[in-house]
Amino acid sequence: MKSDSVLPSICYGGDYNPEQWPEEVWHEDAQLMRKAGVNLISVGIFGWSKLEPQEGKYDFGWLDTVMDILYKHGVYVNLATATATTPAWFVKKYPDSLPVDRNGVRSFNGSRQHYCPNHPHLLEHMKTLVRALAEHFKEHPALKMWHVNNEYACHVSRCYCENCARSFRTWLQERYQSIERLNECWGTNFWGQRYNDWEEINPPRKTPTFVNPSQELDYYRFMNDAIFKLFAAEKEILREITPDVPLSTNFMSSFKPLDYFSWAQEVDIVTWDSYPDPREGLPINHAMMSDLMRSLRGGQPFLLMEQVTSHVNWRDINVPKPPGVMRLWSYSTIGRGADGIMFFQWRQSRAGAEKFHGAMVSHSGDDQSRVYREVKELGHELQKLDELVGSRVKSEVAILFDWENWWAVELDSKPHNKLNYISIVEDYYRELYKRNIRVDFARPQDDVSAYKVVIAPLLYMMKEGEEENLKRYVRDGGTLLVSFFSGIVNENDHVHLGGYPAPLRDILGICVEEWVPFAEEQSNFLQDGGETYRCTTWADIIRLEGAEPLALFGEEWYVGSPAVTVHRFGKGKGIYVGTRPESRYLGRLMESILKERDITPALQVPAKVEVTERYTDKERYVVIVNHNAHPVRITLPADETFLNVFNGKKHDKELTVKGIDAVVLKKRRRT
Ligand code: GLA
Ligand code: GLA
Repeated sequence: MKSDSVLPSICYGGDYNPEQWPEEVWHEDAQLMRKAGVNLISVGIFGWSKLEPQEGKYDFGWLDTVMDILYKHGVYVNLATATATTPAWFVKKYPDSLPVDRNGVRSFNGSRQHYCPNHPHLLEHMKTLVRALAEHFKEHPALKMWHVNNEYACHVSRCYCENCARSFRTWLQERYQSIERLNECWGTNFWGQRYNDWEEINPPRKTPTFVNPSQELDYYRFMNDAIFKLFAAEKEILREITPDVPLSTNFMSSFKPLDYFSWAQEVDIVTWDSYPDPREGLPINHAMMSDLMRSLRGGQPFLLMEQVTSHVNWRDINVPKPPGVMRLWSYSTIGRGADGIMFFQWRQSRAGAEKFHGAMVSHSGDDQSRVYREVKELGHELQKLDELVGSRVKSEVAILFDWENWWAVELDSKPHNKLNYISIVEDYYRELYKRNIRVDFARPQDDVSAYKVVIAPLLYMMKEGEEENLKRYVRDGGTLLVSFFSGIVNENDHVHLGGYPAPLRDILGICVEEWVPFAEEQSNFLQDGGETYRCTTWADIIRLEGAEPLALFGEEWYVGSPAVTVHRFGKGKGIYVGTRPESRYLGRLMESILKERDITPALQVPAKVEVTERYTDKERYVVIVNHNAHPVRITLPADETFLNVFNGKKHDKELTVKGIDAVVLKKRRRT
């Protein structure tokens, strides 16, 4: 096993819900799995009500049978702890375990994940189940990995019930120690919100107008912590009983309520779920999320735990992936660090809300469908990629990404209340993606000294230590690119005084005097040399304090004032973008930065072709994904030879990749 890999081969499989099928189907399933090259299956995710049909009475027999059958067919199990949905008997016994929304309205059971994370009896019941399950299955030879709960907080990321109010008060006492400190950090002298006693404090429930933003922000933190505690408790039991079995819980990529950077430190491998809409064409957001998910644990390879073979059921219109696209997007993910490709789900359900969700085996139930044939082809092909397991992606560019900043910047009562953090991050990511420049994500407090370029889109919140960190980075020679509305508040959402963006003014050599948010239909333009470019969303009124302008605003009352600036700071540079420029401008700006810092893609390729690289100590793998329907011809560097990992074929000088096709090559220097 290579140092970085948690599992020894490329994982291939999906979620499996055998409890929805009679036993004879289990045998058929195992055979179809083997035929398709499946080696890992996630079982029991929504199994609590079947595994503990009555309080304290367990029935593991059916799962024993399932696991035996799978093992006999060479399929390992990613065993779920089954805690994702509390059974009906639990709800009946504890009706106050059902979650309550901001307006005081309680949800009912009859769907899934209907629990308040702070219910006083929830954890003990979850722990008892997990202990029983782990004790029962600890020796089972099929057990390869633990799947803790499922997509934590997916449907209920917040609850506002009395149990939550009580836990919130305890959490606040731990954080602030004294009520006076809380008053300070929440700025309660505003609108007469002062508290004398912890008991006076409530969750940010429905209020007549804007709730205190610092309180709202703390509720994000508190809920993240409360839900994390559920995971930590399960983890502790699993570690005790099965210390050698790796564990994970599946993330949902850009899922706002949970700070996955901190969660990721507690899993053995990042696993995540992704459902890009085939209508979008290029899966740029999926690529960005692959890069983000890989970055959560410092570049360790991850598993794509769920994607769909064809179509989902939960969009307004559920368009299938055309032939070849499932394979194509799988390779995009592998190029960005995946050591496994899994699906929701193995066999399409017959009943329930997901019966029209795509699966590896469809309602026809046989091996004849187009989807199953593609599943099988991919499964067999991936078996040839085991040598990639554990290999890493190396990047020279980092984008700063911070969940707390995300929570803060999208709170209401801002100058512009339609700013979407992910889409501003994606503005910058897209330009790098199109140029096949590899990108990592990092937190603003992380050591970024290894990167030549760091991009900080919409870094509205800057916490203690981050100013020093970024100053050190630029002073030592780094290039920092910062977007508008960055460096505005501290961790309590209180403004950094002394001129915007106070913590970044030295680096950037500017002061932002005023903000001009644009109406949705409004735009301005940028003048850069003889060229003009459109910009939208926002304009900063910038006073230069040592920086030089790179582009000026083209109209309005601030015509001719700087929109984009550059400033030398120490050995590095601070570049500021005081608006939201169109892609043509951002791309050009990015190209000039990349050129200056000598950052190049692995190969020069035509548009809509992805190229990524993964490294081991000995090898360099190049993954090429052609999203075009037509074939592309790629010129290969003269001093290198490329070996096709699928078929051993050698390529010199040039290579043709068919339309909607992907290849994995091994790079060799020519001697
Ligand atoms: C999520 C869940 C799965 C399933 C899929 C459907 O990822 O984890 O159980 O509901 O969505 O797309
Ligand atoms: C009202 C209130 C003020 C203030 C302003 C803001 O007029 O009386 O306290 O909130 O709105 O526009």
